Amino acid sequence: MHAERPTITTADRPVTSDRQASFTVPGLSIEQGARVADCLQERLVALSDLSQTLKHIHWNVVGPHFIAVHEMLDPQYHAATAMIDELAERIATLGGVPSTLPRRSDDVREWNDYSLDRADSLAHLGALDMVFVGVVTGHRDAVDLVGEIDLISQDLLVGQTRQLERFHWFVRSHLADWAGGMANAGSTTELGAARSVAAKSRRQRKA
Ligand SMILES: [Fe+2]
Repeated sequence: MHAERPTITTADRPVTSDRQASFTVPGLSIEQGARVADCLQERLVALSDLSQTLKHIHWNVVGPHFIAVHEMLDPQYHAATAMIDELAERIATLGGVPSTLPRRSDDVREWNDYSLDRADSLAHLGALDMVFVGVVTGHRDAVDLVGEIDLISQDLLVGQTRQLERFHWFVRSHLADWAGGMANAGSTTELGAARSVAAKSRRQRKA
């Protein structure tokens, strides 16, 4: 549940609320609907961050593979945008108040902004791999959590996770070698992954 905020009023009469509505989908209690909506709101913010990160890389990627990465990311951005709308409308259907506004996003965000700015294409992909690890893991956790209450919302998340994992594979395929190793193996942060990939590229150029 998000933090309580003062109600905005006009002449002391409430005109807006971020609270659960007095309805949810048939078959769920109001409390169950609110729990599912809260979980979906967290995934909504995660996908909103992902979509902004994909555009950020689309704009700031440089190097020999510029056009391939630049063009690969736009369909992923558009797919993420469609997922955002689908999630937001499900939250509203459940009686929640979907939002990707910065104030509401800060209530649920437990991760930092993407670490890289202008950078080589493979460095960005090394870092984007870490982003997808976070988003996919969060979606899978939400699949388990929501599935205990609402199979319809779970179905939506399952479909999105399948799509996200496919995009993740696109990214990882740029980092993988013929033996199945990864250029950013062992990295746990976006900057660490970018550094590992850059170091491997340097070694390959020298060889
Ligand atoms: Fe563009």
